[in-house]
Amino acid sequence: MTTLHNLTPQPIAFIGAGNMTQAIIKGMVAGGYPSDLIMATNPSRQKLDDLTANTGIHISQDNRAALAFAKVIVLAVKPQMLERVCAELPNEQIASCSFISIAAGVTVNRLQVMLRAPRPIVRTMPNTPSAISMGMTGLYADEDTPKALKDAAEFALNQVGEVLWVKQEDDINTVIAAAGSSPAYLFLFAEAMQAKAQALGLPTQDAKRLVGQALAGAGAMLIANPDMEFSTLRENVTSKGGTTAKAIEHFNQAQLTDIIANAMQAAVDRAVEMQSSM
Ligand SMILES: NC(=O)c1ccc[n+]([C@@H]2O[C@H](COP(=O)([O-])OP(=O)(O)OC[C@H]3O[C@@H](n4cnc5c(N)ncnc54)[C@H](OP(=O)(O)O)[C@@H]3O)[C@@H](O)[C@H]2O)c1
Repeated sequence: MTTLHNLTPQPIAFIGAGNMTQAIIKGMVAGGYPSDLIMATNPSRQKLDDLTANTGIHISQDNRAALAFAKVIVLAVKPQMLERVCAELPNEQIASCSFISIAAGVTVNRLQVMLRAPRPIVRTMPNTPSAISMGMTGLYADEDTPKALKDAAEFALNQVGEVLWVKQEDDINTVIAAAGSSPAYLFLFAEAMQAKAQALGLPTQDAKRLVGQALAGAGAMLIANPDMEFSTLRENVTSKGGTTAKAIEHFNQAQLTDIIANAMQAAVDRAVEMQSSM
C-alpha cells in the first residue's frame, strides 16, 4: 500500500470534478495530501465551489489549467467525453504530462491515440462503493511506466478503498466482472430477498433492514477473515439438515454457480465489445 510516508506529494490535477473525483480528493486531503498540490477542473461551477470550500484545493473551469498546474493528470470524465477533452488539450502540454485514467472501458492504446503521444498512463477501474470509501479498484500500467506515477495512482485510489494491480490489461475486464459490476449482482440478490420477505408478510422497511444488514454483515465477514475460504464461511452457517442447508440445496439445484459464471462471462464479453467501440 502506498502511503504518504513513502510518497513525495507532487502537484496532481483532476479533469472532471464528478462523484469519483470528489470522493478521491476528499480522501486524499483527509489522508494528509496537501490541498494546495491538488487542482480539479470542471465545466460547471457549483461542484468546483463545493469542492474547494470542503477541501481548499485549486479549481478551474479550464482543463488546460490542469496541465499547467501539474504533471500528473487524472482523467475523470465520462468515457464518451474523453476524446473531446483530450482533443482540446494542447500537444506541448500533453508532452510533459503523465496520466491516470479512471474512465471505464478505455484502453491504454486508445488513450495514447486520444492524447496523440505515447505518454505514461495508469489505467484504473474503480467501483461504486468507492463513494463510501469501500471501493475496490483494479489498476494496470505497462512495465515502462514510472514508479512515481504508479505510486501516485495507487495512493489516490487507496483513499477510496482497496487496490489491486493486474499484470495484463485484459485482466481489467475480469476486474469489471468481479468488482466493477458485482455490487449490482448483490443488489439484485437483495431485491429478490426483500421481495420474498415482504411476500412472507414483513413490512417494506423491516424487510429492507433485515436483508441490508444481513448482507452488509456477511460482506464484512468476508473482509474480516482474509485467511478463511469463502466456502468455510458458508459451511459455518450451514448446519446439516437445517434451514440454510435447505435453501442452499435449492440454489444448487438451480445451478447458481453456473448462472454466476455465465453472467460474469457476459460482463467480460460486453467489456471487450465496448472497449473495441471506444
Ligand atoms: N462512479 C463510479 O462508481 C465509477 C466506477 C468506475 C469507473 N468510473 C468512471 O469514473 C469516471 C467519472 O465517473 P463519475 O461517476 O465521477 O461521473 P460524473 O459524476 O458524471 O462526473 C463526470 C464529471 O465530468 C465533468 N465534465 C463533463 N464534461 C467535461 C469536460 N469537457 N471537461 C472537464 N470535465 C467535464 C462533468 O461536469 P458537469 O456535471 O458539470 O457536466 C462531471 O462533473 C467515468 O469515466 C466513469 O466511467 C466511475
